[in-house]
Formats: sequence, C-alpha cells, structure tokens
Amino acid sequence: MNYRRIELLQGDITKVDTDAIVNAANSSLMGGGGVDGAIHRAGGPAILEECLKIVEVQGGCHTGEAVITTAGNLPSKYVIHTVGPVWQGGTNNEPEKLANCYRNSLNLAVKNGCKTIAFSNISTGVYGYPKREAAEIAVKTVNEFLQTSQAIEKVIFVCFDNDNLELYQQILNRI
Ligand code: APR
Repeated sequence: MNYRRIELLQGDITKVDTDAIVNAANSSLMGGGGVDGAIHRAGGPAILEECLKIVEVQGGCHTGEAVITTAGNLPSKYVIHTVGPVWQGGTNNEPEKLANCYRNSLNLAVKNGCKTIAFSNISTGVYGYPKREAAEIAVKTVNEFLQTSQAIEKVIFVCFDNDNLELYQQILNRI
C-alpha cells in the first residue's frame, strides 16, 4: 500500500520544503488570490517571470494541465502550476479534469527529477469544487499514480482549512 508515501499536513504550502509544491493557478498563469497569491507573494517575482515566458511560448495553461517554474524564495525547488476545473454542477467533466491536474502535476514532477511533492487542495476554494468529492479524487488519483511509479517517494496533501483536513484524514484512514 502507498499510505507510507502519502502524508497529510495542515498549514501554509509556501512553508513546505518538498522538491515541488503544486499551485492552484488559473489559465492566465498571471497569479491571483488564494494559494496562487500566497505562492507568488512568498516566492517573489522570479516565479511570475517564468510564468510570463511560458505564456509567451504556449499561451496560458488549459484546465487539467500543468506547467513548472522555479520556486523563487520558497523552500521548495519548483512550483508546479495546475489549473483546476471551476465547479459547474458536475456535468462538465469536472472529475476527470481535476484528476488530470494531479496526474499531470505528478508526471511533470517526475520529469523534473522531483522525489517529493506537496499539493494544495486544487479547485476547492474560489473554483467551488465540493471538498469531499475533490479530496476523494485527489487521494484516488495520487494512490493510483504511486502504484505505477516508484519515482515519487512522498506526496504531502497540504490542507489550509479544517474542512479539508478532516476530509483528507477520513479518506486516508480508509486506504
Ligand atoms: N497554503 C495552502 N493552501 C492554501 C493557502 C496556502 N497558503 N491559501 C489558500 N489555500 C487553500 C484554500 O483553503 C483552498 O482549500 O487552497 C485551496 C484552493 O483554493 P484557491 O486558492 O481559491 O484555488 P482554486 O479554488 O483552485 O481557485 C483558483 O483562485 O486564486 C485564484 O488565481 C487563482 O483564479 C485562480 C483560482
């Protein structure tokens, strides 16, 4: 089982010292509020500079996709920016798009030699994704990935709010 490779933490992801941390970005990659704002504020302008370069080359980032930049002043090496789906009632393929955020972020982390990665709770703030469903998808997708790849040694789910922390605790106790 992979539970030894999955950890849960309550706190601010900008303080987490994993090889990569995963940001809940928007398709413009130009920053925003929530965890996106916190990462850009704490990480400094180097992150936005690299986001701008990515936008020049490929335009923005589609929902479910992920890009990687420096982490600037943060303890981690990289920030992986992924764009979660906006919750529209569940009829717009949101579950698959959210699962893609986790899968594409993990693949990008492996491609860049990361062994440890921390995720924020993608789409569960401004984008309004129901927290329980989002947590189920996050844990299921990460668990499946860890079964196919030994490259990642540790995944940390970083919960900023209590609701998410309790949900992840319940779900992780079941795997
Ligand atoms: N560390 C960890 N998690 C955090 C932090 C932080 N410092 N700040 C907020 N969070 C949590 C929120 O509590 C929420 O559970 O991140 C989760 C994701 O919420 P949002 O940041 O609102 O992200 P999302 O719902 O995916 O919406 C993305 O919001 O900030 C904008 O530019 C962003 O347009 C994009 C949209």
